[in-house]
Amino acid sequence: MSTDTSTNPYLSGNLAPIATEYTAVDLPVTGELPQELDGRYVRNGPNPLGAIDAASYHWFTGDGMVHGLSLRGGRAEWYRNRWVRSTRVSELLGEPPAPGERQFFDTANTNVIGHAGRTFALVEAGARPVELTDELETVCHSDFDGTLPYGFTAHPKRDPDTGELFAVNYYWGRPELLEYVVVGVDGRVRRRVDVPVPGNPMVHDCSLTERFVALYDLPVTFSLDALTSGMPFPYVWDEHYGARVGLLPREGDASDVRWFEVDPCYVFHPLNAHDVVGDDGAVERVVLDVVRHPRMFASDRRGPNEGTPTLWRWTLDLGSGRAREEQLDDLPLEFPRVDERLVGRAHRYGWATVHSGDDAGLTEPAGLVRYDTTTGAREVVDLGDGREPGEFVFVPRSPDAAEDDGWYLTLVYDRTTDRSELMVLDASAPGEAPVAQVHLPTRVPAGFHGNWIPSPG
Ligand SMILES: [Fe+2]
Repeated sequence: MSTDTSTNPYLSGNLAPIATEYTAVDLPVTGELPQELDGRYVRNGPNPLGAIDAASYHWFTGDGMVHGLSLRGGRAEWYRNRWVRSTRVSELLGEPPAPGERQFFDTANTNVIGHAGRTFALVEAGARPVELTDELETVCHSDFDGTLPYGFTAHPKRDPDTGELFAVNYYWGRPELLEYVVVGVDGRVRRRVDVPVPGNPMVHDCSLTERFVALYDLPVTFSLDALTSGMPFPYVWDEHYGARVGLLPREGDASDVRWFEVDPCYVFHPLNAHDVVGDDGAVERVVLDVVRHPRMFASDRRGPNEGTPTLWRWTLDLGSGRAREEQLDDLPLEFPRVDERLVGRAHRYGWATVHSGDDAGLTEPAGLVRYDTTTGAREVVDLGDGREPGEFVFVPRSPDAAEDDGWYLTLVYDRTTDRSELMVLDASAPGEAPVAQVHLPTRVPAGFHGNWIPSPG
């Protein structure tokens, strides 16, 4: 085993793990935290604990660590970071294993959400959600009160009207199936549909519209050879698999899915999707905005690093059965988001984290890019030398505030100080100086997804 982390770029720079769980209260703030920010910002990401084999380490498999801040009354009440207790993490920390039945594996390192009054760390590919306390301690590996038979996804989509979660799950141990589930506002699965597919694709995310869920059946597939040769993340580019998107009516069955062929590529993250309805009330087209990678895990199998990911629009025409594919921009970007109140609906503002240079995977995140679908304008906010943001999450000022009346929150790593901060930008003027910067006692390694969880009430 090679423990020389310099041999693996996914263990270097701000991808290197940190070794401490911190609890800090009353954090120093530059600027002023808006009074309306009452809740928790949480973010998950890989942070491998203990000795790791640097030669084979895959970024997607590192032990999960959730970072969180509680904001209230203009104060940053606390910051905490906690490893999500997988069996491995508990063993290494000398703790008893966390309760709950395990599936194929139990490292939840990709996303963290609030749902049904609980907090869940999430991952894809066969593992269960991990329930956390409000203060990020592991409660249990959850099967949603006995209603989730297998694993879950890291990217459920919440319908803004009903509050239900829509998810597409996969697990190579259930071959040639995608599993569509709907989780009710009570935190229990209320609908489950197996959808046959011709292989075992990696399905990182899905899209939701008012009528459909979109299934991404793309050419990164499970490889038994990769697994038996010791690759911790056994999914690779499959030249012969083809590429397609399926539209499943939200309450439909597998036989209702309509498939649309697209050019081979990989999509981790759609930005948003919506239906275009004709005069007769029927859906004519479904519009999917996605961040498209030209290939994935073809030559570099340790992380996403196969050419520039850019914003594309796929328009699925239900009349012709064809997909129209258009590149909308050539900026390198990832972590696309919209206002959570408009998931599955036409939005005005969509945004993402923009990267420097042309190449995706390992180039530094540099700022925010925001697209205004009303004016066609593109706004790029560069955070300056050595300041590396993560995913930007929007918090509206009030439940009925406009799409740009609120704040963008993200964790920013500052290479000069080797520390991170929670940065709060005014969504009506994101290019201006931050409204607030909450200074953390540590560096937060570059990770995956974060969300705002409002305080109850
Ligand atoms: Fe993701």
